[in-house]
Amino acid sequence: MKGLILSGGKGTRLRPITYTSAKQLVPIANKPVLFYAIENLVDAGITDLGIIVGDTKEEVKAAVGDGSHWGAKVTYIEQDQPLGLAHAIKVARGFLGDDRFVMFLGDNFIQESISPLVNRFEVDGLNCQILLTSVPNPEECGVVEIENGRVIRLVEKPKEPKSDLVAIGIYMFDHHVFDAIERIKPSWRGELEITDTIQQLIDAGLKVGHYILKGWWVDTGKMSDILEANRLLLEDMSYSIQGHVDGESKVFGKVVIEKGAEVVNSVIRGPAIIGENTIIMNSFVGPFTSIHFGCTVTNSEIEHSIVLENSQILDIEGRIEDSLIGRNVEITKSPIKPKAFKLMLGDNSKVGIL
Ligand code: G1P
Repeated sequence: MKGLILSGGKGTRLRPITYTSAKQLVPIANKPVLFYAIENLVDAGITDLGIIVGDTKEEVKAAVGDGSHWGAKVTYIEQDQPLGLAHAIKVARGFLGDDRFVMFLGDNFIQESISPLVNRFEVDGLNCQILLTSVPNPEECGVVEIENGRVIRLVEKPKEPKSDLVAIGIYMFDHHVFDAIERIKPSWRGELEITDTIQQLIDAGLKVGHYILKGWWVDTGKMSDILEANRLLLEDMSYSIQGHVDGESKVFGKVVIEKGAEVVNSVIRGPAIIGENTIIMNSFVGPFTSIHFGCTVTNSEIEHSIVLENSQILDIEGRIEDSLIGRNVEITKSPIKPKAFKLMLGDNSKVGIL
């Protein structure tokens, strides 16, 4: 079997972070979300991977390389325009050939291993298998209707959803998918929809299996979802201290302190992760916080937040919460008069001031 990971898209809901980086490379618990998809596929024995890339192809290539880090072989496939998930499959035809494959959206994140599902897909000789979960906002997803234990209908973002069950961004197909894509037309949003494709398979009488997730699913397309994924992942982590914590500091709960990190006269209340060579001094790091490598936090407090690499938070009086802070960011108290907020923010930044 092959794996097809989608890592294109513009990530408009994550600007300004995505002006300079792919949304699939935003780290969750200090690891790009895309890497979790790769690991899940490799864990299921799928090592021949195609990654669909768009505008951010250079960064994705730089981060993933040839896949040997995971014992995988990666082929990059360019999709010039984001014309839909089914279009991405069409573009990948040369790579996929007639092999069965798993398509995994690079910004989707699940708690479970797909390994048993890959096994079932093979053993039951299914033509397609979809993964489902119940959500409070089905109108934003591909909604699935089930009758007598079988999927009978899929509708992309219906105004009036008939159920709260939706298809998440992990799908399994055999070669029948290519004919199905030829039979569909672009939707109202101008995309070749994966939901319409699967409906074609159902209408053609092919075997479409489904599985309802037991664990959580997060589509990390927007900031609140990224913080949520970070929270869920940190909860599952185990304690590990590889860096240095001085005698004046206190560390509570599930905390990971990566190598070269230093915690000085500070309190870290887990679950939290402090990245390589990051310095936390005279500060408080509260639950559900991930601070990536090369950062400095001094005389400040931060909680339920993600800080990307090489950023600095210095002498901030109020506690920083529910925040996603990009790379090379400096947040400092300005000693220079007049006493005022002095900001240099990228387009589409969001700042909440006390
Ligand atoms: C896509 C699919 C949708 C699915 C969702 C899962 O939506 O079209 O059916 O429920 O992924 O993340 P999009 O992200 O393109 O809005």
